[in-house]
Parts: sequence; structure tokens; C-alpha cells
Amino acid sequence: MKITYLPTVHPQQKSDRASGSDSRMRNITRQAAHEGIWNLSLAKEVKDLFDEKASEWSATRNIPSRGVPVQDALERGQVKGKRVVDLGAGTGLATQILRNKFENVIAVDISQEMIVNSVASRTSQICADGFSLPFPNNSIDVFLAMNMILFPNEIERCLRNEGFLIWISSRGSDTPIYLPPEEVIDLMSSNSDAEWSGISAHAIEATWLVAKRSATN
Ligand SMILES: C[S@@+](CC[C@H](N)C(=O)[O-])C[C@H]1O[C@@H](n2cnc3c(N)ncnc32)[C@H](O)[C@@H]1O
Repeated sequence: MKITYLPTVHPQQKSDRASGSDSRMRNITRQAAHEGIWNLSLAKEVKDLFDEKASEWSATRNIPSRGVPVQDALERGQVKGKRVVDLGAGTGLATQILRNKFENVIAVDISQEMIVNSVASRTSQICADGFSLPFPNNSIDVFLAMNMILFPNEIERCLRNEGFLIWISSRGSDTPIYLPPEEVIDLMSSNSDAEWSGISAHAIEATWLVAKRSATN
């Protein structure tokens, strides 16, 4: 079994908002992760969308329940490391939690407006595209991707041999930018020489996965 499913400690709830399963962002997410489809036009479309949402992002989302899956993944997912990147950090709602656990936290987002509106402004923040990150090979211990598009090759390039990818979907399978945990493990495995395994659980409306890269030699 590649994924160990833990019992739920934060009782599961179904999101009562519209599902994002038929959304444009879901299509973009699936195509980017599975077919490597990403280009300047898509990057601009996504950047513009989130630039527009940035000023109101924290107002509706900076609530305790948003942090519950992040805390749960950090506490029960056996994540280790010093240098962590919050990829697609938005306004830093998860970044502020990471700062309590890791020595070196970097927030990355394609949207400059999200960074301008960050609640984690004392953290290193970089405006960059997750498709092509400004980090050397094998330099990052942990990536957090919360409701963020997955670029398996780039994660694989930047992660250290024994690195982690924390994948969180805040509204479970209704999250517009969503891939199931099983697909994330399969995608990482098929873009890697290493073995990937995971620990996963539900937490309120969210699902989380801590995917671990284990070097084979
Ligand atoms: C749905 S929001 C999630 C924000 C934050 N992780 C949260 O949970 O509040 C997705 C974020 O990913 C960023 N993003 C999308 N595509 C990206 C890319 N290719 N590179 C970097 N950031 C990206 C967006 O600008 C946006 O801030």
C-alpha cells in the first residue's frame, strides 16, 4: 500500500458550497499535472485570476478551520526538515503556521497581489511560477501545496533525496484545484527515480496527504 490512511480526528464535513469539479481551474490542474500542459498564456490567466481575488482572499479564509488540515498534516504526517516552501502560498494563511515549525520558510506565488496582501509578510516571499522555480536541485526539504497546481517534475528537481510534499485540498474533492492523493503519489512516482509513499487523512472539509520521497540508493 503506497498510502496509509489515518483515522479522522477532526470530524469530516461535506462542503456546502458549489463543487469545483467542473471548473476551469480543475481542467488546468489536471492538464498541467498529467500532460505537462503549461505555457505563458495559462500562467497569465491564472495570475490575473488570483491578482483579482487577492484583496479579499484573507477576509473570508483567515479562519481557524483553514489551518486545521495543515496542523494535522504536520503533527501526524511525520514531516521532517528545515527548509520549507509554501508553493502557491496566496496570502500566507498556511505560511504563518509553517513558521512555527520550520527554521527556514519561503512563500512562493505567481500573483504579486497575493504577496502584497500576505499576512505572513515577515517571511521570505518570492513571486515566481511553480513550473520553473528559482531554487537549485536537491535544495528543499518540504513543499506545501495547498490548493495549488502540481508540477511534478519541478517538485522532484528541487526536493532533497528524502523530501516531503504536503498536498492539501481545503474542500476535499470539491476544491477547484484538486487531485486525489492516490494520483499525487502516482504522478510523483512516475516523474521520479525514487519511491514515493504517503500518509493521508480527512480533516473537516479538507483532505491532506504527506507524500514522502525515499531515495532508492
Ligand atoms: C487557490 S489559491 C490557494 C492559496 C493558498 N495556498 C491558500 O490555501 O490560501 C492558489 C494560489 O496558487 C497560486 N498559483 C497558481 N498557479 C501558480 C503557479 N504556477 N506558480 C505559483 N503560484 C501559483 C495562485 O496565485 C494562488 O495564490
